[in-house]
Amino acid sequence: MEDWSECLDVAVQIARRAGQVVACAAQQEKRVSSKSTPTDLVTETDHQVEELIISTLRHRFPSHRFIGEESSAAGVKCELTDSPTWIIDPIDGTCNFVHSFPMVAVSIGFAVRKELEFGVIYHCSDGTLYTARRGHGAFCNGARLHVSRERDVSKALILTEIGAKRDPATLDIFLGNMRKMLSAPTHGVRIIGSSTLALCHIASGAAEAYYQYGLHCWDIAAAAVIIREAGGCVIDTSGQHSRLNQSHYYYFVTNAGGVKLLY
Ligand code: IPD
Repeated sequence: MEDWSECLDVAVQIARRAGQVVACAAQQEKRVSSKSTPTDLVTETDHQVEELIISTLRHRFPSHRFIGEESSAAGVKCELTDSPTWIIDPIDGTCNFVHSFPMVAVSIGFAVRKELEFGVIYHCSDGTLYTARRGHGAFCNGARLHVSRERDVSKALILTEIGAKRDPATLDIFLGNMRKMLSAPTHGVRIIGSSTLALCHIASGAAEAYYQYGLHCWDIAAAAVIIREAGGCVIDTSGQHSRLNQSHYYYFVTNAGGVKLLY
C-alpha cells in the first residue's frame, strides 16, 4: 500500500513555489477576464500558475492525471477516475487577487481510486501552509489542527461564500440562507472571498461551520482532507458524508464539532 508521502512532499514544494509567483504577481498590474459570468474572474496568473504546477507534476509523475480549474474552464474534460489524480486550484480567491485583497491561496488535492489522500493549501499573502494526509492529521505550519468543539449553533461562527452567479434565483437562495443563518441565531456569518481558506479556518477551529452550494472539486479537494484530519466532516445537503465527485457541482456543508446547520 503506497503512502503517497513522496507526492505530498512534492506538492508542498510546488505549492510554495506557485504561491511565491502569485504573491509577486499580486504587486503588479493584472490582466483580467471573465469566464462563466462577469463576476467569474480569471487572470493570466491563474493560467501561468496552473501550467507551472501541472507541468512540474506531470514531469515528475508521468502516469498521473490532472484536474485543474483553468484547464477545465478551457474545455479539458474534468474526469475523476481510479488513477492517481491531482486536483488543482492555482489561485483560489481570484477576485481577491485582482483587488489585492489578501485572502488568496494555492490549493492542491490528490485522490487515488476516488479517495482523497492528501491536501495542501498555501496562503499566498502570509505564507501559511496547511497540509493533511489521510490518517496522519492536519497541520498549519507544522502545528496540529483541530476543529472547534462548539456544538450549539447559537454560539457558532458560520462561514460561507457567494460564488460567481448573480441571477435572481441564485440571489434569492443565497439571501434566504443568509437570513436563516443570521436569525438562527448564530454569533455571526463571514465571507472572506476564498472558499479554501475559509475551510482552513474551519479546520483550525476559528469558525464552526461552512456552507456553500456549487463548490467545484478544485475548491474542496485539498480542504476536505484537511478538515477531516482536523476532526471535522464534509457532508452534502442530505447530511450524507460526501465523496469526491468529478462533476462540477460539489456542494458544501462542512460541519465541525457537530453543529447542525441544514438538516
Ligand atoms: C472561488 C472562490 C469563491 C467561491 C467560489 C470559488 P476561484 O474560487 O473560492 O470564494 O465563492 O465558489 O469558485 O474562482 O477564486 O478559484
